[in-house]
Amino acid sequence: MPQFYIIPAAARVCIRWFPVLARAMNDALLAAAISAFPTDLPGITLGAVMHDGAIDPRPLVRLPLAMMTRHGLIAGATGTGKTKTLQLMAEQLSAQGVPVFLADVKGDVGGIALAGTAHPKIDERARATGHVWQPTGFPVELLSLTGKTGGQLRATVSDFGPLLMSKVLGLNETQSSVLALVFKYCDDKGLLLLDLSDLREVLQYLGDEGAAELKEYGGMSKATVGVLLRNIIGLESQGADRFFGEPAFDLNDLFSVERDGRGLISVLSLADVQDKPALFSTFMLWMLAEMYAMLPEVGDLAKPKLVFFFDEAHLLFDDASESMRDEIEKVVRLIRSKGVGVFFITQHPRDIPETVLGQLGNRVQHALRAFTPDDEKQLRSTARTIPKTGFYDIEALLTTLGTGEALVSTLTAKGTPTMPFACHLVPPSSRMGPLTAEEIAPRLTTPQARKYTTAVDRDSAREMLERKYAAAAQAAQMDASVSASAKTAAAPKVGAREEESALGAFLRSPVARTIAVTIAGTLTRTLLGALTGTRRR
Ligand SMILES: Nc1ncnc2c1ncn2[C@@H]1O[C@H](COP(=O)(O)OP(=O)(O)OP(=O)(O)O)[C@@H](O)[C@H]1O
Ligand SMILES: [Mg+2]
Repeated sequence: MPQFYIIPAAARVCIRWFPVLARAMNDALLAAAISAFPTDLPGITLGAVMHDGAIDPRPLVRLPLAMMTRHGLIAGATGTGKTKTLQLMAEQLSAQGVPVFLADVKGDVGGIALAGTAHPKIDERARATGHVWQPTGFPVELLSLTGKTGGQLRATVSDFGPLLMSKVLGLNETQSSVLALVFKYCDDKGLLLLDLSDLREVLQYLGDEGAAELKEYGGMSKATVGVLLRNIIGLESQGADRFFGEPAFDLNDLFSVERDGRGLISVLSLADVQDKPALFSTFMLWMLAEMYAMLPEVGDLAKPKLVFFFDEAHLLFDDASESMRDEIEKVVRLIRSKGVGVFFITQHPRDIPETVLGQLGNRVQHALRAFTPDDEKQLRSTARTIPKTGFYDIEALLTTLGTGEALVSTLTAKGTPTMPFACHLVPPSSRMGPLTAEEIAPRLTTPQARKYTTAVDRDSAREMLERKYAAAAQAAQMDASVSASAKTAAAPKVGAREEESALGAFLRSPVARTIAVTIAGTLTRTLLGALTGTRRR
């Protein structure tokens, strides 16, 4: 039976400042919150319960650490406090020894490395939520895709696999199945794909002299290979070549715990590649898949091994193919048993496919706007995804929540969702804002960052094909001189079969065989490959 309390405006003002009255006002709600959020379990403190404008002065609303591997969603309209919620969660995870990975899309989370500055608004929020505010900075390692705002994050093309590469290149289903065949071709021929130039060289070969070899791979058309080639050249011209190659980022670096017992917060700074969402969201997906592949099964842990915050998560799903969505759904579902929690941050729950949304057990829903009929539709659909309660009118509440306030439902220790409670969130203890260039500079030369500074160009497909061209050119020259001396009318043409055998001869060489053995099973890797364990390492 719904219970709504009608409180005159003047009384509401009193209640806000005299919480004792508020408690008297709604004992049933507070009793429900106290039983929903036990204080004896290690967890993240989100904030204090709110009802009808009143805030209880105890930080009751909590999220048990053990339930963070059941994933979560932080949603809400722009400017409602999603990023600050992420920040205060990351801080408390670190403080409890849990490493955190987070994507800083707008460049406003780097400040987590430094202590926050006192401000009357912070004091007021701390007082209202009963939170003891202590300015604190946290152990942070900066990462970036450009190497300019953090250590260089890099992956090899073969690590990425055809599925993720298709997403980065914006390929349709047909084109991505051709790309998968190109990967298969390289696997068969022992051509190692490390950087974009390797892939470009292979495509150039297949679109030109190697066209005859496409016949073996039924689905590959020369025209589609041409499209792939153009897309790769386009990607390279945007400077994306620096994200692919070696040394690839070692994801073990993310799982560090400092000497003082605090978990490392790895901040992937994306402000400088904001205009390449397909690229960075795919990179993060690669990280998740790779993590899944390398971590052992651990079942349910008292605290997660790592929590991964995926900001601007809609970018991951925008234009994602059906197979891509399936793979994301699988990674999210299965990574839980490896001790990793994933939190998506986006404006609206509908940005996340149903199958993924259904796996996000913890919900922090900030305010939504209801300006247009479409907004209202979204509001209703969001309200439907929130567990039922008699204490609040969910739709009305969602449009009236203030900044740094949210409707929260977490999982209890038994894994069942709590009733939703309106929550006034505690303030972050670190700086709410970006790091300056001077503050970033020393973080670009940490021992971890230095490991990835210099790219290494190992012998791979491009070099192999270049040697093949050189060998073919030499053979052609010899043929020409033989035929000239024999004074025959026409020099013999180097046919596809002969070219193939030149490549074949090289591929049968001991060098190529060593490479082929090293990469066995690597090039055909997809996310699915990762999930089924057919991975290198
Ligand atoms: N928990 C909080 N404690 C203190 N201030 C907060 C809190 N949450 C939000 N704020 C205030 O609200 C502002 C906006 O918050 P935030 O940047 O987190 O919004 P957002 O939802 O991430 O916005 P966007 O969608 O534009 O990224 C902050 O700069 C801060 O001043
Ligand atoms: Mg934000």
